[in-house]
Amino acid sequence: EKGGYDHFMMKEIYEQPRSIRDCLRGRIYPGRGEVQLGGIKEYADKLRNVDRIIIVACGTSWHAGLVGEYLIEEFARVPVEVEYASEFRYRNPIITSKDLVIAISQSGETADTMAAIELAKERGATIFGICNVVGASIPRLTHAGVYTHAGPEIGVASTKAFTAQVSVLTLMAFYIAQQRGTITRNKSVEYLTELNEIPDLVERALKANDQVIAIAERFKDSPNCLFLGRGSSFPVALEGALKLKEISYIHAEGYPAAEMKHGPIALIDADMPVIFIATKNSSYEKVVSNIQEVKARGGHVIAIVSEGDTDVKEMAEYVIEIPQTSETFVPLLATIPLQLLAYHIAVMRGCNVDQPRNLAKSVTVE
Ligand code: M6R
Repeated sequence: EKGGYDHFMMKEIYEQPRSIRDCLRGRIYPGRGEVQLGGIKEYADKLRNVDRIIIVACGTSWHAGLVGEYLIEEFARVPVEVEYASEFRYRNPIITSKDLVIAISQSGETADTMAAIELAKERGATIFGICNVVGASIPRLTHAGVYTHAGPEIGVASTKAFTAQVSVLTLMAFYIAQQRGTITRNKSVEYLTELNEIPDLVERALKANDQVIAIAERFKDSPNCLFLGRGSSFPVALEGALKLKEISYIHAEGYPAAEMKHGPIALIDADMPVIFIATKNSSYEKVVSNIQEVKARGGHVIAIVSEGDTDVKEMAEYVIEIPQTSETFVPLLATIPLQLLAYHIAVMRGCNVDQPRNLAKSVTVE
């Protein structure tokens, strides 16, 4: 049942080329530059008039929501807020009937997310769900939604569900942009053609596994670890840190790279591995200077870079290459080596990877 892998988590990491392909299937038409989402098509009018989108979720699903914020604001030009479902619910939030709430949940059973939906519903918002488990409670509570189609996820640490959530949010961003006329057909063709190739690029990203094993070997006994990224790689840094802490019990933090100088830089010494997402995109130069700051303080730099990178390669102690892609799709690729890193470190430390202590697959208490 683990398909020849030692753990469900590893099986699920390796399923990602397929799960992303399944998620995109029948929904993108790159030649026409079109996205079709049957589950929300009745709401096309609503999407043209919506004032604001509020994303509610917990844990890894919340990280996917943060990536979604970048995508939706960039392409559909609608303001987006991303909220922890548990906080949203207890804050007397301002919600109107012109708001769209998107609830993201792998299991579709998370109590905090369900409570947030109930509250937003009472206040007249339209609610979409992005869920993996078909027929779960959340899809039944929402007005409409889009399934991620990642297939059953057994490992407690979410992997393929995350990349499928990001894929659905990418589709939604382009769909909303099409309804609102904020993207040209040519641009859509360009982006969707690239999105269609992401499953193959994820396959290539998985080839970094051996490099990742060497890095895991070197840093498996570190008590702490810092993950840094900018733009939509910031939520990827948060996700990398969450994966590491939940399965290996190493204390890890994700931070926006530029925030480092406002505090976390004080933590950097020769015992601190710092993992940078330093792919070739708009913030590359800035990330390079953040890397120099860490090096100057004796920290160990591990960098995820675009294939063919030379500058960061000279500076970092270890690099992991991922295929070149436009900034929009970097989260789908940069996440892969971070999942592998957490996995290998946890295995080397003798941890129960699929069922980490104190955690359950779905959190049904508030
Ligand atoms: O089923 P959900 O997506 O609603 O679950 C939300 C979180 O409990 C979940 O993502 C949790 O953080 C995972 N263990 C992360 O790997």
